[in-house]
Amino acid sequence: MIKIDGLTKIFNSNGHDIVAVDNIDLTIQPAEFVIILGTNGSGKSTLLNLLAGSLVPTAGSIFFDQKEITSLKEYQRSAFIARLFQNPLAGTASELSIIDNFRLAALRSKSRKLILGNTKSFEEKVKHKVSLLQLGLEEKLHQPIGSLSGGQRQALTLLMATMDNMQLLLMDEPTSALDPRSAERVMELASRFIGELGISAIMVTHSLKEAHRYGNRIIQMDQGRIIKNFNESEKRQISLQQMIEWFA
Ligand SMILES: Nc1ncnc2c1ncn2[C@@H]1O[C@H](COP(=O)(O)OP(=O)(O)OP(=O)(O)O)[C@@H](O)[C@H]1O
Ligand SMILES: [Mg+2]
Repeated sequence: MIKIDGLTKIFNSNGHDIVAVDNIDLTIQPAEFVIILGTNGSGKSTLLNLLAGSLVPTAGSIFFDQKEITSLKEYQRSAFIARLFQNPLAGTASELSIIDNFRLAALRSKSRKLILGNTKSFEEKVKHKVSLLQLGLEEKLHQPIGSLSGGQRQALTLLMATMDNMQLLLMDEPTSALDPRSAERVMELASRFIGELGISAIMVTHSLKEAHRYGNRIIQMDQGRIIKNFNESEKRQISLQQMIEWFA
């Protein structure tokens, strides 16, 4: 469970303050898949960066399973928090092969080091996992990841993020650089992984169709605050047409 108390981030730019995240309280349960909507500059990415530890909050605290993690560094949080970015190039090393990218991902946490012990079994494990994507990439494990399409990379990054005991997946517009078919495939995968692993996930999107179809909770942000918060049953009752009327 993730709990945020009075989380605030103020940036100072040219002498004036920008309140990017304004005193947010939020609790997210395991297996909750939260969709965040909001106009440009409403603080969505800042909120995700605060959760991941790539930004230090101006005020407030973050708890993970009752333990305060506010002062944990990003690399410490990466043992249990994974990220998927808008740019498929982010989060992977282009010049390294698929298998070596999985090794790097595996090194992020101590538990992941264990699976490095036996090279052969590690490769078998990765091969099996990659084959589940049904993209034929299991035959390309030794090719540089940079030679793959954006959609293939996003699918792999997602897979790397969910290989181990990841507990929170943060996705910032993960499909906006993808063609519609790849976008749909990545979303189906993400949704399946989140469900199967029972992890918590937060996805920022500007696509109301995605927001309608995926996730079990919707939050709308405006000027650093949460202005709408629909739970699972409320979300289920909203039609796509209503979504467009309310959020567009
Ligand atoms: N490093 C920074 N320094 C100064 N201001 C920043 C910084 N990062 C974000 N901001 C400001 O904080 C506000 C929130 O930005 P943020 O990137 O979180 O918005 P967003 O909701 O993700 O927008 P978008 O939909 O365009 O991605 C904006 O006004 C932005 O200009
Ligand atoms: Mg953003």
